[in-house]
Amino acid sequence: MATVAGRSGIFARKRGKHLQGNQDGAGGGLKRAVGALDLMALGIGGTIGTGIFVIIGEAIDLSGPAIILSFALAGITCVFSALSYSELAAAIPVSGSAYTYSYATLGELVAWIIGWDLIIEYGFSVSTIAVGWGGYLKDLLDSVFSISLPTAITSPPGEGGTVNLFAAGLVIAAMFLLLAGVRESARANTVLVLTKLTILLFFIVVGITHFTGGHFTPFTPHGTGGTVDAAALIFFAYIGFDAVSTTGEEAENPQRDLPIGIIGSLVLVTIVYILVAVAAIGLVPADTLAGADAPLTEAIRSGAGLGPWAGDIMSIGALVAITSVVLTIFYGQTRIFFSMCRDGLMPGGGWLSKLSPRKVPSRIVVVFGVLIAVMAALIPLSELAELVNIGTLFAFLLVNIGVIVLRRTEPDMDRPFRVPFVPVFPLIGAGLCIYLMTKLQGETWWRFGIWLAIGLLIYFFYGRNHSRVQEDAPQ
Ligand code: ALA
Repeated sequence: MATVAGRSGIFARKRGKHLQGNQDGAGGGLKRAVGALDLMALGIGGTIGTGIFVIIGEAIDLSGPAIILSFALAGITCVFSALSYSELAAAIPVSGSAYTYSYATLGELVAWIIGWDLIIEYGFSVSTIAVGWGGYLKDLLDSVFSISLPTAITSPPGEGGTVNLFAAGLVIAAMFLLLAGVRESARANTVLVLTKLTILLFFIVVGITHFTGGHFTPFTPHGTGGTVDAAALIFFAYIGFDAVSTTGEEAENPQRDLPIGIIGSLVLVTIVYILVAVAAIGLVPADTLAGADAPLTEAIRSGAGLGPWAGDIMSIGALVAITSVVLTIFYGQTRIFFSMCRDGLMPGGGWLSKLSPRKVPSRIVVVFGVLIAVMAALIPLSELAELVNIGTLFAFLLVNIGVIVLRRTEPDMDRPFRVPFVPVFPLIGAGLCIYLMTKLQGETWWRFGIWLAIGLLIYFFYGRNHSRVQEDAPQ
């Protein structure tokens, strides 16, 4: 078996021992403790959150009732990419997700770009999501207990406050759960996932029993363009299922369980989203939902006439949902960063990637926990949802291309799960990602470009010279 990198230089590819990571859970690797159901829960946990509870309002503003089609378009984009993720996750079951897959297929430079890209995707999304959570908690305390906390401690500067303590507190709590070890946090996540699914089911049932068909006309008030723009934004709601693939090294039976976790969670989430969208528009006209801070709470309060308790239930659902998204995405981020450190690409990576006695990369968890908590406390990040989207679409794009490349470069590799109709399916997936990326604002492209430029500087001044894969490459 090859135990060295495939090539040298910035195109060095991971092969052999560099892709094995932790095969038996012994020694210096991460702990294998996650089963198929845990993985599906992780996928759902990382997915259903701010998108369906908050961003749906902004998307409806763009699309009107055609939000249903926007959800479908974003979901289809994800399904093609999910197939590609599954093939790579099952064939290369090591920590690091799209980062590791690109390392194996497209080479070190592309892998670095993706890893760097995922830091922004995961890090900023955790902060953004935590901020949304703080807002819901404030509303709920007000509505149920009539406790109005001062804006100074519940909002960041720029939104009339000094520090968003709720958002920061959530991130720190998630940090402690992750420090406690993967099994514990996966269990906590399963409970949170069941709760949020039940609450969304409640919303769907209420929506269907208080349904007004007339709300669906006109169906596309802003034309096809509005529907597609809304799809590019609501794509945010689907982000997270890919976090399942970051657990490659911790899954008990990765070849079978990773595809089940990835595709299973995505299919379930797509069905739930479309039903929630139908129920929401059935309850109230699209204009009522457009731009609302808490659209589902609003829909049930004004459309169902069940009393304030029904809206409060939706707010509790939002809190629970967002909590599990924070846990999952934070978890995914620490694992990707761990892989980058272990590969020698990150300054200080040797120190950072040391595992605790519980086999948790605790230093990374603490460093990111503090950084993300500070961002969540101080920065109003809502406008960064698009930045998170562009980063994710870019990662999906490369994963789709990676499948095609790896089929050519490693045709005999053991692939427990195979994407059907290669290269057609991955090409459709890649094309849909590019299409949605072009629908994001010019500003988003700029911000993304600047972030990538900083990453490239770090790579060329540090990573390239310290890469473990390159150290082992034939000269
Ligand atoms: N999909 C995640 C959410 O909706 C990021 O919050």
